[in-house]
Amino acid sequence: MITGLRCAVCDASVEIVQPFTWACPNAAPDDPHHLLEFVDDGVVEPVDTRTTEPIIRYRRRCAWWAFARANGMSDDDTLHIASTVAGGFATSPFGRHAALSAALGINVWAKDETHSVAGSHKARHLIGIMLHLRVAETLGLLTERPALAISSCGNAALAAATIASSQGWPIRVFVPTWMDDAFGDGLDRLGAEVHRCERRDDGALGDPAMAGFRAAVADGAVPFSVQGPANAWCLDTGRTIGWEMAESLPDSGLEAVYVQIGGGALATCLSAGLGREVPLVAVQAQGCAPFAAAMERAIHVTDPEHHWAEVMMPWSAPTSLADGILDDETYDWIGVRRSVLASRGRTVIAPESSIVAAASLVERTGPPTSPTGTAGLAGLMADLDEGFRPERPVAIVLSGVAR
Ligand SMILES: Cc1ncc(COP(=O)(O)O)c(C=O)c1O
Ligand SMILES: [Zn+2]
Repeated sequence: MITGLRCAVCDASVEIVQPFTWACPNAAPDDPHHLLEFVDDGVVEPVDTRTTEPIIRYRRRCAWWAFARANGMSDDDTLHIASTVAGGFATSPFGRHAALSAALGINVWAKDETHSVAGSHKARHLIGIMLHLRVAETLGLLTERPALAISSCGNAALAAATIASSQGWPIRVFVPTWMDDAFGDGLDRLGAEVHRCERRDDGALGDPAMAGFRAAVADGAVPFSVQGPANAWCLDTGRTIGWEMAESLPDSGLEAVYVQIGGGALATCLSAGLGREVPLVAVQAQGCAPFAAAMERAIHVTDPEHHWAEVMMPWSAPTSLADGILDDETYDWIGVRRSVLASRGRTVIAPESSIVAAASLVERTGPPTSPTGTAGLAGLMADLDEGFRPERPVAIVLSGVAR
């Protein structure tokens, strides 16, 4: 059971009973390099086998549940809240992908997140934050609803607006000016307040949408973020993807799981849920590979967590067809690195030709998936080109329905 959170950078601790422990208490605008991580007592709570709805099934392993229980809420009440808030979540398909296996001549297992809430896995990260808020509201710890805030122009924004809309919760979405108009209309229809952020005239560097998000959070908005340093609670229910996979592995086990890395929350959560027996292969595109560079730098640094700025350096001018993983910084590099090391995994930099080849292969085989969501497969294809011959099945995650 989760008992609290501790910062991987400065060791600050907070107890699970405290509400709204989104970010490290020592993080500040001029010192953002902190990361709260969940701490548990080593006891693995049983799953609720009466249902396959993941948020309910795995609730007792989750931090939002421990937060509710620590504040005196009954398990039945947590069940009621989970059913009303996360009733739309279903276990996503995971199995051998016959057409991909035939095309590549190996056994490929795919976790298909393209039919999940809002068409990707992103809602899994955000629902834990919403559950925390709804629990706090039910306990009387929250009497007015502060707006949610997110900076994204892709799957995360859509997931955030979908969840906020389902709960009638106000949300502000910060997007760059070049965002697709049709996408903005979709967010508008969900009732989101969309802020198109211009690059600042004074020549200030950095993502203007992220600056808008930070200002909103400083003003009292809830960081409804899919990046652990901004809101650790996105790393809670995100683990359901790995728990689901762990319950339906092939008999022989998996040789590896190839996961596309943007901010790194997906790989962190997936590997935490799946367990260290399955090597995590962290895949980035050649045109944006800050995580692979950080892994190299970390070899030469003792305690890399304490030397964030030296290890995790932003990538300049990211570019790839896989435009959803062009985060210039792998915000959750600490979690991904730990999982790669613990599972004896590795990093792969997929050449752009593999990113394109993976996207067009899945275009032929289905399910309809964005090039971002086939980037893990691109890493596998790059390895096969280099002579990799797995003996056991290899898993990938297909996420982000093609639009
Ligand atoms: C479809 C899809 N797959 C994978 C990722 C990568 O997730 P993360 O940013 O948590 O590494 C994203 C992130 O935007 C995504 O949209
Ligand atoms: Zn800290």
